[in-house]
Amino acid sequence: MPTPQKPVDSEFGAASTAAEVIRGISLKGKTAIVTGGYSGIGLETVRVFVTAGAHVIVPARSRTKADDALKGLRDVEIESMELSDPKSVNDFADRFLASNRALDILVNNAGIMAPPLQRDKRGYELQLSTNYLGHFQLTARLLPALRRAKGARVVSVSSWGHRFSPFHFEDPNFERREYKYSLGRRSRQALCERWSSRLLASSRRDRRDRSGGPRSSSRTPGGWSC
Ligand SMILES: NC(=O)c1ccc[n+]([C@@H]2O[C@H](COP(=O)([O-])OP(=O)(O)OC[C@H]3O[C@@H](n4cnc5c(N)ncnc54)[C@H](OP(=O)(O)O)[C@@H]3O)[C@@H](O)[C@H]2O)c1
Repeated sequence: MPTPQKPVDSEFGAASTAAEVIRGISLKGKTAIVTGGYSGIGLETVRVFVTAGAHVIVPARSRTKADDALKGLRDVEIESMELSDPKSVNDFADRFLASNRALDILVNNAGIMAPPLQRDKRGYELQLSTNYLGHFQLTARLLPALRRAKGARVVSVSSWGHRFSPFHFEDPNFERREYKYSLGRRSRQALCERWSSRLLASSRRDRRDRSGGPRSSSRTPGGWSC
């Protein structure tokens, strides 16, 4: 059954920029991790966080690309992480935990969109693996640092496209269904399911952690029709 939505009382809308939203807010002393923070939406997120005073860690699967994109930004650490590889996700999270820092903000932003059918080493469809499973594992592993921050925020970047497909629990991995990926309407079923899974997980996590744990929410940067 759908959960009734309550509009957020905000002066911002679809055309507001990140810089406008963060104006007047100080993130001095805060630590943030932004996955995919070296391209597109993630890169802009890192820029505004740094401008507001945060220290930002960007886990990247391509360090060269990240070095280039983030050149000149102060207070940014580049780390290695491949979201579709569970060992790499754990290694990154464990390095962060070993630093004993609190994590104030985790932005689960990285993702791939509508590629041809590919699977990770475990056999999971690659969008499920990258966009959802990798971030689920990352968030769970980082929980001690998020709890330490007392009031941390976990933000999952989803999409308006989630409305075009629920998550298919009976065949999440496209083993018994046709996998479509071209740019036409209804061809991004798998991608829309991944966006739905991010929304569902985020809302579930938020309910679970109400007692002082990190609060979780999802954002949609816009939409594609699926
Ligand atoms: N742009 C849109 O119109 C739109 C609309 C709705 C939702 N979204 C969502 O918004 C998010 C950001 O979109 P964007 O357009 O800014 O994407 P983007 O420019 O393609 O950036 C995606 C980032 O994720 C990283 N990434 C991909 N696979 C990874 C992996 N296996 N391990 C670690 N990092 C990985 C990429 O690294 P590499 O460069 O190394 O590949 C890149 O830095 C995505 O989750 C997307 O689904 C975007």
